[in-house]
Amino acid sequence: RSALLLVGGSLLAGAASSGAAATSKQTKAEKFLWGSAGAAYQIEGGNYASDLWVMEHTKPSIFKDPSGDAVDAYNRVNEDIALAASLGFNTHRFSIEWSRIEPERGRISNAAIAYYRRVLETIRKHGMTPFVTFNHFTTPRWFAAAGGFETRDGIEPFVNYCSLIARELGDLIGIAATFNEPNLGALVSWSPAIRPLRPHIVAARELARTSIGAAKWSPPMLSDFRIQQPIMIEAHNRAYDAIKQASAGRFPVGVTLSLNDERGSAEAIARKQGEVMLPWLAANGDYIGVQNYTYSVVEGESDLPPERGIELTQMGYPFAPEALEGVIRAVARHSNRPIYVTENGVATEDDTRRVAFIDRAVAGVSACLRDGIDVRGYIHWSLLDNWEWVAGFGPKFGLVSVDRTTFVRTAKPSAHHLGRMARRGSPPG
Ligand code: NOJ
Repeated sequence: RSALLLVGGSLLAGAASSGAAATSKQTKAEKFLWGSAGAAYQIEGGNYASDLWVMEHTKPSIFKDPSGDAVDAYNRVNEDIALAASLGFNTHRFSIEWSRIEPERGRISNAAIAYYRRVLETIRKHGMTPFVTFNHFTTPRWFAAAGGFETRDGIEPFVNYCSLIARELGDLIGIAATFNEPNLGALVSWSPAIRPLRPHIVAARELARTSIGAAKWSPPMLSDFRIQQPIMIEAHNRAYDAIKQASAGRFPVGVTLSLNDERGSAEAIARKQGEVMLPWLAANGDYIGVQNYTYSVVEGESDLPPERGIELTQMGYPFAPEALEGVIRAVARHSNRPIYVTENGVATEDDTRRVAFIDRAVAGVSACLRDGIDVRGYIHWSLLDNWEWVAGFGPKFGLVSVDRTTFVRTAKPSAHHLGRMARRGSPPG
């Protein structure tokens, strides 16, 4: 507790400093982004044309709950953006659902483009910077059925989609990420929480493959990492160029990476980072998006299960807000690019733990800034309690709770807490 208060005190002291230092802080202050994130499939509801919809409705289901209407954000987006702005945030991260834009190959939905245009306009109207993810795990059915990112044939449709979005919506985009966590494949197979599900995942993939009569079935988040990685890196590099061209380079483009703070022998850490981080740091990009939730202890080729007796989150992994600082430092050791924390958060029913998590995580960002690391934003996952993939609606990641029957939103104390930090202290160093 007292450590937390101290951290809070130093944050305030930093924000209140005066003189020349304050001037440079203020200049930086205008740029530091504070906000929260969501992803289309997890919040919108009814993304019927998506590969995940097929996967979800394949029996036996590996998903704890069907996503269904999710949290009806498709219809409540104005309310959600207004809420985020009213909390004090200056950025809003969301993703565009490719399967709405291109429900059938080459057939573009003008209504869907117009919809996301209104989303962007609303974010702008509230004075926030729109942070847009072009692909957050889900793809159109037709794309998955044709092999997804397990075949090089997947590159061109993805690049065309990115180019279309940049052309149609680029005038309103603030920052773009091509892929969300394209390095996740490895984490899925290594994570102790997911490992027991592997046989079910494989079985569901086989069933889904049969049910849509596809030659191949490959939801990106579950498909083979080694085949997929080089293809996704190439897709990203080409999409990067296409987006730059279609938007006359108006906004930064990068990728967001799922990174655990790795603990263990130098060799084990280097091996894991060599697989999940370094190839992506070498890819095209104007910034690195860092997404962190916990640490892992690596030994040889594997991750060890969490130590006994430590606090675990609803996801079953250690409660570890300090992991964020470790991850930012690891990225900064290998890259000079600006860093945005594009996701960080905790699944808990106890919102006081979320408040503590935020304080300690942001203190880590402050420490990095003091050491001269170029961190430009802190985006919390998530604005809303939402559909957490195979875990369904159980884990509560939201700053805002959602009534599962009425969809009424209620800001939790943590939402106001982070909002106050956003209002008073930019940057948090
Ligand atoms: C990473 C993913 O981007 C997001 O979809 C997920 O809900 C959160 N982490 C929490 O697990």
